[in-house]
Amino acid sequence: MNIKEQLEEYAQMTEEALEKYIPSTDCLQKSVIDAARYSLSAGGKRIRPALVMEFCRVCGGEPETALPVACAIEMMHTFSLIHDDLPCMDNDDLRRGKPSCHKAFGEATALLAGDALAIMPFEIIAKAGLKKTISENAALKISVMLGELAGFGGMIGGQTIDLENEHKQPPVAEILEMYRMKTGALLEFCCKAGCVAADAGAKEQLSAGSFGQRLGLAFQITDDILDITSDEKTLGKPIGSDRENEKYTYVSAVGLEKARERVNTLTAQAKEMLSDFSDTEFLSGLADMLSNRNN
Ligand code: IPE
Ligand code: IPE
Ligand code: MG
Ligand code: MG
Ligand code: MG
Repeated sequence: MNIKEQLEEYAQMTEEALEKYIPSTDCLQKSVIDAARYSLSAGGKRIRPALVMEFCRVCGGEPETALPVACAIEMMHTFSLIHDDLPCMDNDDLRRGKPSCHKAFGEATALLAGDALAIMPFEIIAKAGLKKTISENAALKISVMLGELAGFGGMIGGQTIDLENEHKQPPVAEILEMYRMKTGALLEFCCKAGCVAADAGAKEQLSAGSFGQRLGLAFQITDDILDITSDEKTLGKPIGSDRENEKYTYVSAVGLEKARERVNTLTAQAKEMLSDFSDTEFLSGLADMLSNRNN
């Protein structure tokens, strides 16, 4: 199986499982459930679930073992996208090739759908522990990790700095720290949590976390590059959003060429972190694929 096919298989497993977590029901609060399902099922590259399941596999576990954790992080990520698109944040009307959640369901419902998708991951991970899909110890560790890496010191913190930096020109080191938090932290979570789901030790978690961090930085710089060089149809979200919001990105600071060089360096550094594992063809191929992506 090549990298694309393997990624597709992980995506399919995730999408089937996600559907079961949010079934279509007729109830008074139908709108918020429909909004959450709308954004979750709109597609997306599903790279976070793939990282979770693959790190579980390279640590000797079955990918399916980590499936609840994979769904949990895709929910958390989708929450971050729904809120990121709101008028009070990036004010973007297109996401994953469809109208953004607030465009389709209104701001209040989108806000609440995002809230639900930020809370459900903890329920899902705890239940995976109770049902012994993963060990109870792993469930506890993964919950703590998710709280830390999605919260003030991670994604939420990074998103806050991102907004506060609008109309400013922060130093490059600060831009990269913001990327580490807003994007790198969730990717770090995926890689580490996959190891924990397989009950792997501290050494594996550390190397996996470093891989995720570097991959995350490269991923956000590429996202900024694509905001300039891609087109709306390919990207599935508006281009020029950063410029419109006067966000001073790594690309604004160093230019397209140097930004691309940095992506390549970070990708190479990420791949070096895989030396503690064996059978890493997919992970290393995925890192390359993401650095050359066009969406
Ligand atoms: C977009 O993430 C937000 C960033 C962290 C740059 P993705 O590019 O992974 O979005 P989807 O999941 O494929 O839609
Ligand atoms: C957002 O970065 C990262 C998140 C944590 C959602 P962007 O604002 O650049 O992401 P896109 O371009 O809207 O996907
Ligand atoms: Mg944003
Ligand atoms: Mg945005
Ligand atoms: Mg962007």
